[in-house]
Amino acid sequence: MLIVDIIPWLLASGVLLSVLSIVLQSWRNGISPMPASGVVRQAVAGEVSRISGYANIVEAGSGWGTLGLEVIRRCPGKRLTGIENSSIPLWASRLLAGIAVRMLPASGAGEQLHGRLRYVRGDMYRSSYEHADIVLCYLFPGAMARLADKFRQELPPGAVVISVCFALPGKQAVRTITCGDALRTKVYVYSY
Ligand SMILES: C[S@@+](CC[C@H](N)C(=O)[O-])C[C@H]1O[C@@H](n2cnc3c(N)ncnc32)[C@H](O)[C@@H]1O
Repeated sequence: MLIVDIIPWLLASGVLLSVLSIVLQSWRNGISPMPASGVVRQAVAGEVSRISGYANIVEAGSGWGTLGLEVIRRCPGKRLTGIENSSIPLWASRLLAGIAVRMLPASGAGEQLHGRLRYVRGDMYRSSYEHADIVLCYLFPGAMARLADKFRQELPPGAVVISVCFALPGKQAVRTITCGDALRTKVYVYSY
């Protein structure tokens, strides 16, 4: 058997293992790595850009990295750390960030991206939010309930939580934005 004969099998096995990995981790997490839509990403970036100056952003469950990249591209002075525990989306997000840093210099934005965007493997329920000025979430009601206590205990005064779709239980949003997408997705903004 020639090496070229096994290449399709290797590729098919790789795709199958990747899909299995995503399905298994989604089942464990209770949520798939579905990315926020373009309209929602713009709404979140718009909210972040209302906060002036330097800010340390933590994205709890950063998926494929598209939301973090949009925010960092549109919000000068901000740094973002995405926390993700699903291997395939995590690797993809690191690849995306690496490509973005290298591909964007032509527009001048690449230099600005350098060192401002990173994706780390971690469990968002065990991560520390003590140094976060802004937290981004696109999760599910059970996750928001688990994170609500953690945010109350750990976030510094003045920190902002921006949550796509799901409200933080027991906390009044300072602003709720309804996006112009077909689902009329809500984005909740909280201040601590
Ligand atoms: C709906 S996706 C949102 C992805 C991204 N924030 C976006 O808006 O495009 C939720 C992500 O949270 C991740 N996630 C769920 N539970 C997690 C945990 N305990 N620790 C880290 N990531 C988690 C999932 O793997 C998934 O990628």
